[in-house]
Amino acid sequence: MTLIDEIINDSKVMPYVSSLQSYHPETYYHCLRVAELAVKLGVENEYAEKDQRLLGYSGLLHDIGKKCIDKTVLDKPSALNPEERHLITAHTRLGYLLLSTFDSSVRHIIVAHHEFKKNPYPRKGKDRRTRELLPRTSTERRAVKPQISTLAQILAAADVYDALANARAYKPALEKEKIEKIMKQQYAGNQKYVEQVLAIAVR
Ligand SMILES: [Fe+2]
Ligand SMILES: [Fe+2]
Repeated sequence: MTLIDEIINDSKVMPYVSSLQSYHPETYYHCLRVAELAVKLGVENEYAEKDQRLLGYSGLLHDIGKKCIDKTVLDKPSALNPEERHLITAHTRLGYLLLSTFDSSVRHIIVAHHEFKKNPYPRKGKDRRTRELLPRTSTERRAVKPQISTLAQILAAADVYDALANARAYKPALEKEKIEKIMKQQYAGNQKYVEQVLAIAVR
């Protein structure tokens, strides 16, 4: 059984992934691929197994907030209007809220997975991101580890790659050269993860 299979079968995770699979299969399969890619990036960077697990859990659940968003918005084939865009961008915070009983590291990685892109949300700017992710109380200090921001960058790289490499309602799947060009322009995390994700994804 792979790490991802093990996580999917975790009784705490199963209800979330099954409800996402029935509500919006495309998002479920995207989460599955992102989780696999993020774990591979964790292995590539020689992270400890506990961090690989954090990447697996975060990858599988990163877009869980989308199950609260109307399918007409998720599947809209044209550009979103400002109101629809506002709804979509709520999915990171919704995920954070839905997973209130989960490990706080997983929740912090998930809420940050769009913060390493050209138009980041929910928090903008490196300083703000860093400050908000820093633990403020002794309980948080024990729960939120310093590598959370790094793991969120890895998840973001896997997420951007998968979104570009697969067709969506509003765009076709792109070729590797095009993906590389767009990622270099739009991914605002450590660029070494762009190189790694491009190399790993075609292995
Ligand atoms: Fe997302
Ligand atoms: Fe995603």
